[in-house]
Formats: sequence, structure tokens, C-alpha cells
Amino acid sequence: MPGGFSEVKVLDNFYQTSSFYPMPVVLVSTVSANGLTNVGSYSLCFPFGIAGEHYMMLISRGDSNTSTNLLGGNKKCTLNFIPYRRRFLKNAVCLGYPGETTEEKLRDCRFTLVPSMCREKEEGVSYPDVVSESIQIFECTWVDDKELFHYANDGGERHFLLRIDSILIKERWAAALRRGGRFPSLPVDYGYRDGKYFWFAHHGRPYSEPIPKNKGIDANSVAYEVQRMPYDLEWEDAAYERLVKVPRVFLKKVLTAISERAISDGEKRITPGLLDKYNKKER
Ligand SMILES: Cc1cc2nc3c(=O)[nH]c(=O)nc-3n(C[C@H](O)[C@H](O)[C@H](O)COP(=O)(O)O)c2cc1C
Repeated sequence: MPGGFSEVKVLDNFYQTSSFYPMPVVLVSTVSANGLTNVGSYSLCFPFGIAGEHYMMLISRGDSNTSTNLLGGNKKCTLNFIPYRRRFLKNAVCLGYPGETTEEKLRDCRFTLVPSMCREKEEGVSYPDVVSESIQIFECTWVDDKELFHYANDGGERHFLLRIDSILIKERWAAALRRGGRFPSLPVDYGYRDGKYFWFAHHGRPYSEPIPKNKGIDANSVAYEVQRMPYDLEWEDAAYERLVKVPRVFLKKVLTAISERAISDGEKRITPGLLDKYNKKER
């Protein structure tokens, strides 16, 4: 074939049988019928709704404990992202063995389970414990709404649309998120291959690749930068538009100055009018 390609058959579980597909490693915790927290290993877990509403998609065997617990009525589901450490991954493989009860799994679980940190708990609902060793944790609720998402499958797999209720991240990584430039070591899973092994990798140090200078910035880049800042301010879309001319290297500094000034003025919302006012004062 041109370019040296060779066509391979698209098999079931094509991500690990017919290709190389890098995936995350997520320990999914849910609450079982007897109130215990169940922990299962998952990799088919990806961002699904990213703007306005925030969702993850989790794909699980229909008869897993995780599926059973969610379908059984408690829709709370926590995604625990563990760091790359061989002993953690060894235990993740152990917790990924199908057919074990929650009690059996708890005996083998080497992770530390601590109560959910969800701030606004629904009354009468049990929340799954979370894995304390995690770098980050997404506390989610399964949204069982066929209008929003429906996948009519008959392959024994279930697709769970999980609304992200909160994201918790270890302090040092929350700081890295704000400042940029440093990354935790999260494992990459290449799946169950050779009928014998799960294959994991750790990634190298990420490097930055600047976008070409002549591309400038757009309102989305401004919004992206704003969302990474620690201020409790609401921004109007038109306000982002006002800032597209700010050179990229100064953007963070300008946004910080605007935000700190707005907070000290008691403002809650950044509007184009407010930016004009601040701009005038600058001159
Ligand atoms: C690293 C890893 C990733 C896995 N990813 C998935 C997955 O995305 N979907 C799935 O159905 N099973 C996956 N499995 C297999 C499940 O872990 C296995 O079915 C396990 O029994 C699920 O736990 P549970 O029954 O407590 O929910 C994975 C296993 C491992 C070790």
C-alpha cells in the first residue's frame, strides 16, 4: 500500500486488538447495594461533553459491579486517576479481574479509601469513597437521560454518561495547573494484549510547542486562560472578544490585573463596559 501501510481487520476491542490506542487508567468507585464502595479498573473513560455541560463517558461490561451498582439506583460514580507507580498498576490489574464480588475485591485492594469530599451532598444518597493516592478525582453522577444520550447496543457493554460534579486535585498539582509547565506522571494503558498482559507506559516530560506567531489569539484562547485562573468572576463572551488583541505573552498578566482589580472593586461580572472603564483609567 502507498506509504507503507497495511490494512488490519477491525476486531472487537479494536483499541487493543487492531491498533495501539493510548488510554488513561481510572479506578472507578461506586456504591454497592450493601453500602460498600466497589473499586474497578477502567480505561475506556473519556471527556464527552466539554463546553457548557461537562461530561465523561465510561464504557463498562454490562455485568460488572460498576454497571450493576449504577443501574441498581445509586448513580454516584467517582473517577480516581492514580499516578504511575508499578505497585499501583499491579493492584489496578488485580482489581480489574472480572467476576469478583466487592467484598473479595476489598480484601485485595491496596489503595486507601477515604470518604467522598463532595461538598453539597444529596440527602439520603451514599457517596462512594475515593482513592486517597489519586492525583485527581472526578466526582460524577450518571445521567440516565435517553434524550441526552442513547446508544442502543447489544454487545453486552454499557455506556454511562457521567456528569462531572466536582474535580479534586492534589494541592501541588492544583498549583501546577494554575502556573503551567509541570505535569504529574499519569500512566498510559495500551490495554490487554497477547491474551496475557496489560501493557502500561509512563510518559516522558511534556514539552511545549508554541502556536505560530502569525495565528494570534482568539476569544477561546482568552476564555481558556481565564478558566485556569483562581478568581471567582463571571466573564461575558463579549469581554473575551475585547482582549484578542493583547499579545499572547502579556495575556496572563493582563487577565490577572483585570481580575484582581475587579475583585477589589467588588465586581462579580466582567463585561466589555468594565474593561473599557479599566482601559480608560490606565491611560
Ligand atoms: C487497566 C485496566 C483497564 C480496564 N478497562 C476497562 C474498561 O474500560 N471497560 C471495561 O468494561 N473493563 C475494563 N477492564 C476490566 C475491568 O476492570 C473488569 O471487568 C473488572 O471486573 C471491573 O470491575 P468491577 O466489576 O468491580 O466494576 C479494565 C481492566 C484493567 C486492569
